[in-house]
Amino acid sequence: MSAMAELFPIELTVNGRRRSLEVAVHHSLLDVLRDDLELTGTKECCLVGECGACTVAMNGQIVDSCLVLAVEADGAEITTVEGLAAGGRLSPLQQAFLDTGAVQCGFCTPGQLVAAADLLARNPRPSVPEIEEGLAGNLCRCGCYVQITEAVLAAAREADR
Ligand code: FES
Ligand code: FES
Repeated sequence: MSAMAELFPIELTVNGRRRSLEVAVHHSLLDVLRDDLELTGTKECCLVGECGACTVAMNGQIVDSCLVLAVEADGAEITTVEGLAAGGRLSPLQQAFLDTGAVQCGFCTPGQLVAAADLLARNPRPSVPEIEEGLAGNLCRCGCYVQITEAVLAAAREADR
């Protein structure tokens, strides 16, 4: 007979919306976003902090959500890829990813977008090496690195207009 896992109450603000949840101590922030809140834009892949597919912003810093326990995130402000499109419209960065062909299978795209949005918030005119460094934690198995860099440069130019 298996014992029921003990649950702990947490509160998160996800994409501006307050959410109250009960989570098991071993559940990650990624588990909670995808399974409890049904925000499946954030992707699950390596689960060991290697690929960046699960990248979200937590209190203004990007994190691999597979490595953050949900209980550690109690009280945090979280932004996922779903939070980048204001009013259901793609952000200029998202549009630039489409326009430059930076999306092939799309699996890495949500993490790339969250990391790139964080980079542009900190550094609105990044150089190519700064973009490469800023997105170094986000792997793309389709090899779209050139197009992803072009998309970030295009979004930075668009913001300057
Ligand atoms: Fe989190 Fe790969 S799934 S870093
Ligand atoms: Fe396929 Fe990046 S577009 S993994």
